[in-house]
Amino acid sequence: MSTINDTKIALTGDRPTGPLHLGHYAGTLQNRIRLQEEGYRCFVMIADMQAYTDNAYNTAKITAAIPQVVSDYLAIGLDPSRTTIFLQSAVPELAELTMLYMNFVTVSSLERNPTIREELKTRNFERDVPSGFLCYPVSQAADITAFKATCVPVGDDQLPMIELAQEIARKVNRVGGRDILPTPKGLLSKVTRLPGIDGKAKASKSLGNAIFLSDSQQEVRDKVMAMYTDPNHVRVNDPGQVEGNVVFSYLDAFEPDVGKVEDMKRRYRAGGLGDVAIKRELISALEAFLVPIRSQREASNINFRDIINEGTRTARKIAAETTADVKDALGVFRA
Ligand code: TRP
Repeated sequence: MSTINDTKIALTGDRPTGPLHLGHYAGTLQNRIRLQEEGYRCFVMIADMQAYTDNAYNTAKITAAIPQVVSDYLAIGLDPSRTTIFLQSAVPELAELTMLYMNFVTVSSLERNPTIREELKTRNFERDVPSGFLCYPVSQAADITAFKATCVPVGDDQLPMIELAQEIARKVNRVGGRDILPTPKGLLSKVTRLPGIDGKAKASKSLGNAIFLSDSQQEVRDKVMAMYTDPNHVRVNDPGQVEGNVVFSYLDAFEPDVGKVEDMKRRYRAGGLGDVAIKRELISALEAFLVPIRSQREASNINFRDIINEGTRTARKIAAETTADVKDALGVFRA
């Protein structure tokens, strides 16, 4: 017998804080295209509410990024006729679910969330964390469960959020005495975290160390040429280190010819293959990857507002149904 956990529904989202980059592609965008092709019912959410949790004094930044993110979605091949693209803040039911779910989650469990802890550090929020920020994992559980998503394609830093969504779904089902919400599963990609061009653990817009999907050929070249390699690989003939070498991390993610990359690694380790040579190879791999994205971006002249409005209408209908179900399950009085 098929159950609520067998339906092919995928939901994921991005905070609109700037254009999307290669780290987003390697971590989740790639999988979204796959799920769309595999016939999943796909929802992609522009997580503006989540972005406000640490940008409440700088909403202009978020407003400016929303069209950029939609343009990136279309450029990589998300198809609005198969994937519902919508705006989080325009689905108020998500905020309603968040309020209800917050009653099932303790402050201390949020404070223990490893992703939140990391973010508190990088944002210097140690003492003055906005309560909205601390609670965003709960809102993320609302995003996922509102669409009864069974599959959430994400980078590995999002796994604690999915765990929380699973816990909340189980609690709602237990209190309601029936299977209302499925247990969502994370879908990780082969490369779960792409390093920044400076060798830092994660490529990110705020660290200024990312290559954007919208970068020009020249920008890509300049960034690859500035990439962190092996500081001890001084002369071409010196043996070089592949681990922690950003050029190889990107080749692993974006050069489809695996045999060629393995061969380059072997020659680099042995000594005799220079940094400029491996960077040239990476530039051509990235160009091959980005050229169709650039032409798709130019070809898609669809109005981004139309896409958001239509997607949001669809999303709202579904979220409203789930919210009504959850309220009934929890025994919430409905006026
Ligand atoms: N937290 C995600 C990010 O940092 C964005 C996001 C919001 C999300 N809601 C989601 C991802 C639900 C997956 C599922 O980009």
